[in-house]
Amino acid sequence: MKYINLNREPFFAFNIWSIESAKAIMDAAGKTGHAVILQTSMKAFSRLDREALRFFVTDYGEKKKVQAYLHLDHCRQIGPIQEAVACGWDSVMIDGSDRPLEENIRLTNEVCGMTKGKGILTEAEVGQIGGVEDGIEAAQAGVARLEDVLEFLRNTDVDMLAVAMGTAHGLYGRVPKLHFDLIERISPLTGVPLVVHGGTGLSDRTLQRLMVCGNIRKINISTDVKQAYRQGIETGIQNGYMEKSGFDPLRMTDMIHETIEDMAVHKLNLLEKV
Ligand code: 13P
Repeated sequence: MKYINLNREPFFAFNIWSIESAKAIMDAAGKTGHAVILQTSMKAFSRLDREALRFFVTDYGEKKKVQAYLHLDHCRQIGPIQEAVACGWDSVMIDGSDRPLEENIRLTNEVCGMTKGKGILTEAEVGQIGGVEDGIEAAQAGVARLEDVLEFLRNTDVDMLAVAMGTAHGLYGRVPKLHFDLIERISPLTGVPLVVHGGTGLSDRTLQRLMVCGNIRKINISTDVKQAYRQGIETGIQNGYMEKSGFDPLRMTDMIHETIEDMAVHKLNLLEKV
């Protein structure tokens, strides 16, 4: 198995829930020449045909010469992590951010023990990231404390760390205040790649600033993928693709594919401009 190489340019990690949505993101990766992470929320992971998705991502990636990795997003229990490891996911996120720090450290170490040496990377979270991600909600969203991040990193062998820096999952009600300073303070003290959650709704400029900020190596986008799916349906209806006579489901499928792919191409092209 190949490791995700987090030492190069940052990755966009897009949430997907089906082979069709994975294909749209992989086509965007093919068009732009950038590698992508496809991540499944716990909700998607629990209902997907995992073997079929794993097979598709590997096979289509080889055919299209696209580097795409499968990641399990926000998981709060060990059981699904074991399943993701068994199904050949390339990385997993154990989210113990709602627990006391020592407990988060213990849980993360348990997961690292399961993934190390298998070519699978582990992501963890310190400080709770606001908003709701497919049913996973932060009870006490905020900004991580530097001393907690450092203590966490001293006591775990985690491969990447999501640090609460002011972003939130879902659509923002107003422009968020991001704590770039926190990332800038953490980064010189550790080589661990950092992850930004809540990438939807951040301006292109902000995303580009994040891409070059300290050790940030992964930026998560979920709501934008779902909104693009929704936009595809809306445009299809406006184009008359839902008229009863002569209805062709493939036209609608193509429309949805196009809107998701266009959104992802736009994000991935931002990597060229930093
Ligand atoms: P958004 O839905 O805000 O893009 O957040 C995605 C995310 O961080 C997934 O973990």
